Amino acid sequence: MEIDETIRQRRTVKNFTPEPVPRELLEQVLEAGLWAQNHGMTEPWRFTLLGPETREALAKMYEHSRHKIMNPRELVVVSQVLSNDENVRREDYAAVSCAIQNIALAAWSKGLGLLWSTGKWTRLAETYPGIGLDPAREDIVAFLNFGFPDGTPSAPPRKPLAEVLTVLP
Ligand SMILES: Cc1cc2nc3c(=O)[nH]c(=O)nc-3n(C[C@H](O)[C@H](O)[C@H](O)COP(=O)(O)O)c2cc1C
Repeated sequence: MEIDETIRQRRTVKNFTPEPVPRELLEQVLEAGLWAQNHGMTEPWRFTLLGPETREALAKMYEHSRHKIMNPRELVVVSQVLSNDENVRREDYAAVSCAIQNIALAAWSKGLGLLWSTGKWTRLAETYPGIGLDPAREDIVAFLNFGFPDGTPSAPPRKPLAEVLTVLP
């Protein structure tokens, strides 16, 4: 797939087939994240793949979100190692976001679907110990929901470039 086609055709996927995601494929896709742009090469991204027991424990904590926690075939938490420097922290969040975009594009190009999820429960303090993270050291940026797409979601429309581009003399 051409990169331009992948960028335009990638969609957020919420409905997955029952087919499991091979571990090798998942790791290939996560590796794409490691090649993101990153000022100062701080490599602030961390990935936590949640196994069935951890997901069940989370689902027990957040019964109202049980479906969201158990529905994806694989669930990976992306966190940011927190710098003490406010500017580095800001730039690191951008770098982690770039990593996630790389992952989303790599997944799509391999036929794998992804949802970047940041529901309220994903940010609550109680969530951190449940997935082995220390909120003083790391910030949860995303819960990545993976699975093979069941259907093709429609594309939310985008503003035309002319509406968001300013050209200065
Ligand atoms: C920081 C961030 C957080 C997001 N959180 C959620 C979420 O919690 N739930 C959800 O359904 N989609 C979430 N999304 C996905 C957006 O809703 C989606 O990208 C948008 O609707 C555009 O659709 P597309 O990705 O198919 O182009 C998130 C995206 C980003 C960048």
